[in-house]
Amino acid sequence: MIMNTLDWTSAWNGRMDRDDAAASAIRCGDMAHRLVTEIAAGHLPFINLPYREALEEELQAQTAWLQSFDHMLLLGIGGSALGARALQKAFYPQQDRPCHNGRSLWIADNVDAETLDAWFDLLPPDRTVVVVISKSGGTIETLSQYFLSRSWLQQSLGDGWKKHVMVITDAAKGYLRQEADALGLASMPVPDYLGGRYSVLSAVGLVPAAFLGMDWKAMLRGALAVGAPLFAKGAGAKELEPHPSWRLAVWAKSLMDKGYSQLIFFSYVPLWAHFGLWFAQLWAESLGKEGKGSMPLAAVGVTDQHSTQQMFLDGPRDKACLLLTSPSLAQGQQFGKDLPEAWSYLRGARFGDLLQAEGLGTQMALTKTGTPLVELRMGTTGEEEAGRLMALLEIATVLTGWLLDINPLDQPAVELGKRLANARLGAAGYAEESADLEAFLGRKPEQQEF
Ligand code: PA5
Repeated sequence: MIMNTLDWTSAWNGRMDRDDAAASAIRCGDMAHRLVTEIAAGHLPFINLPYREALEEELQAQTAWLQSFDHMLLLGIGGSALGARALQKAFYPQQDRPCHNGRSLWIADNVDAETLDAWFDLLPPDRTVVVVISKSGGTIETLSQYFLSRSWLQQSLGDGWKKHVMVITDAAKGYLRQEADALGLASMPVPDYLGGRYSVLSAVGLVPAAFLGMDWKAMLRGALAVGAPLFAKGAGAKELEPHPSWRLAVWAKSLMDKGYSQLIFFSYVPLWAHFGLWFAQLWAESLGKEGKGSMPLAAVGVTDQHSTQQMFLDGPRDKACLLLTSPSLAQGQQFGKDLPEAWSYLRGARFGDLLQAEGLGTQMALTKTGTPLVELRMGTTGEEEAGRLMALLEIATVLTGWLLDINPLDQPAVELGKRLANARLGAAGYAEESADLEAFLGRKPEQQEF
């Protein structure tokens, strides 16, 4: 088995200096204590997965029913959708390939009337399960899609619609929980303290994974293996100090201190490109607080070498990079001996050799232009490794937030836009926001046609 590796060789590059880490490193003892305390209190369930056994039992029991459908229409947004999509793209690429006729997952994570209508027109209600995912149970985008999906199912299935819905939400609170309990809808819980962007390895991400036939147990196993040293009996600074999540957090904090305000997540594992989008939400929503944090940029090798890479290499020197690679990707077709002379160096090579060579080229180019870079090298790219990667990044995000002295588990700033939208739609209880809206819309316009 090829191990996963974090390669730090180019990490302290550019304006970075290993001594920069000292200010964070002295906080290791406090952080280890905090980590152990918070895990024991159940506040960081994505690290010790206290819900694992119950989840495994329940999901195993639900899988046959889920897989009796041909289509899953997933309604959710943000952390309730991005993990599922990353897993779908990584481990179920066949859905995007010609002549696919197996199960299909459709993720409705936007307010996009055209797409939703197209799905309602084309999906067979009798062979579709609608999975509504919302930790709070009250997110307007998700609920509005639920109301429409419910009518769509009802039109064809009458009262039978209830057998075509699963709700994944808080075990006790929120509108969706009441709805599921009142109507007897199938449901699975989002465990306490498991916020959206940290919830991919709960029913939130694993119900769609089970539907598509992934080895979701391996994902849980991988995640637990990464977190385990941090909550094992007697765990403390000695375990945290060498842990890759802590080292990443210390590095990230040092980057921010040195004015590196952007963090590229550059995936040279093409099928894992969507982990970049998942990570972007995790990082941005967790750390963008009180003027702190760094902007995550998801990029895909080699595609973005012909797009944003120019800016990475020769734009403002404010970027660092997490480079995701794997030596174990498919090698693909072999080039024939008949290639034109100008490309003779490709004769006998494999198509996959290009990706590896170009990944190395990018790594070197970024390093030569002074970009601090850590390589996340996946030994293999199976489900267990995905679990490891996600746990590593989640724990690193929380620790970075703590080093920034902010709360990485909330997202207060996004509430304002939601309140204003509710006021605009006429919801009760938003008098202040309605007045603000009136003032905003009453500004003297400055507009031009184009
Ligand atoms: O990560 C988060 O907490 C958010 O992005 C939420 O997932 C998102 O706002 C959706 O919330 P909910 O799951 O409550 O519908």
